[in-house]
Amino acid sequence: MKKIMELGRRSFMKGVGLSALATAAGSTGANALGQSGGMSGGKGYDFDEVFVRQNSRKWIAAYNAYGKDNIDVAMGTADLDFKELPQVVEAMKQRAEYENYGYEPTPDSFYQSIIDWNRERYGQEVKKEWIRTSSALKPGMVSSMRGLNPYKGKVILLTPTYSGFRGAINKAGMRVEMSPMKRVNNRWTFDLEDLKNRLDYETKCVVLCNPNNPSGEFWSAEEMMGLGDVCIDHGATVLSDEIHCDFPNKGVKFIPYASLGEKYANTSITYRSPSKTFGQACLRVAYFFTQNEDLMNATMIGGGHEEGVNTFGVLAAETAFREGAQWIDDLNVYMNERFDYIVDYVNRPGEMPGVEFQKPDGLYLAWFDCNGLKEKVARPEQVRALHDKWRDEGNHRRVTPEMCMQEWIARNARIHLQPGSSYGIGAEGFMRMNIGVPHALLKKALDNWNAALKSLG
Ligand SMILES: Cc1ncc(COP(=O)(O)O)c(C=O)c1O
Repeated sequence: MKKIMELGRRSFMKGVGLSALATAAGSTGANALGQSGGMSGGKGYDFDEVFVRQNSRKWIAAYNAYGKDNIDVAMGTADLDFKELPQVVEAMKQRAEYENYGYEPTPDSFYQSIIDWNRERYGQEVKKEWIRTSSALKPGMVSSMRGLNPYKGKVILLTPTYSGFRGAINKAGMRVEMSPMKRVNNRWTFDLEDLKNRLDYETKCVVLCNPNNPSGEFWSAEEMMGLGDVCIDHGATVLSDEIHCDFPNKGVKFIPYASLGEKYANTSITYRSPSKTFGQACLRVAYFFTQNEDLMNATMIGGGHEEGVNTFGVLAAETAFREGAQWIDDLNVYMNERFDYIVDYVNRPGEMPGVEFQKPDGLYLAWFDCNGLKEKVARPEQVRALHDKWRDEGNHRRVTPEMCMQEWIARNARIHLQPGSSYGIGAEGFMRMNIGVPHALLKKALDNWNAALKSLG
């Protein structure tokens, strides 16, 4: 039985690259092959093709909020509007045709592909016995939080940071405490004095977002060691979310937290996932690792973690880790160009009044300083008016100035952005735009927004 399964699996993986590309080339020529035609600047894949994602949560959320006819570009939830790596699609098709979907073990080759990916891209050695799987990133982190702090207590976030951490902490039954970061030279960095004051006896974990969503910092070794030393002194484990690590801009290097040295590796757990890198969020595969067996036992036993990944997700992840290096390299070239495009656009005299932008170290999220716009469309009386309108409609959500801007931008520029207030204290006046979209949509979004801003006078 094992032999048959292994044979079957090998045929899903075997030659998938070549056959997928040959099929594409045979059908519609170079562009289906993914050969970059014009502005991508990459070497192989074409990210200019507009691919309408009818099943996308990002698009559906915007349509539900504002009506399908009123939105041109949905730029909220962090996922990609590009077609999947063709080799992944081909491997999944082949697996689907193998007519049995009963229980299967997670193959060693999947773990090996994770190990190889981390060694080849980051020089990081991860051992198989350190790795556990999870259906998404957050469930693994929730299990760690539970296991590391059986008496509950609080978990510290370095804000602004990913909004979903707050839900994860609540799910683990703990309290969120925010340590707002400092903004130095238009870049956020940890406020270690503030952090020290918050690290008390009931704080067993600090969440690090490396690199940071939404503001895009790829943390330096010095920054992270400073943070790590404070956490180690206070007996707190660093939970390092590295889900966006594969998206550095040109000239930027990703430093895994656990690669900083033995003491940092021994007091941290790293969480990763192919879901952002290869746009595989619906396939439900993530993984986490630590060299410290006690931390892993706390997560697995104390936190009651249930490993749970599905065959298609595992196959997609393994195929992407094995065959997707060029794809993500090309995508990073493309994203780097998009960031440069935005910098150029925003800094042109007279364009985008009230909005400022600094190129981040990476990710595909653009973090706009909209404090100028806030003064025009999200003054206290305007926030109050939106609050009253929503209340009268039976919507009792809290309203922030950034939500007021989100509303104004959606209604006037037909684009859906995320309000900075979602990311915690320190993000006042900021808005996040997901630019993981083809250039035509990014251009449309900026043109719409620019025209709306100018109409304010
Ligand atoms: C930093 C960060 N961590 C985790 C997640 C969510 O991951 P998952 O859906 O796998 O739990 C996201 C999604 O945007 C994210 O940006």
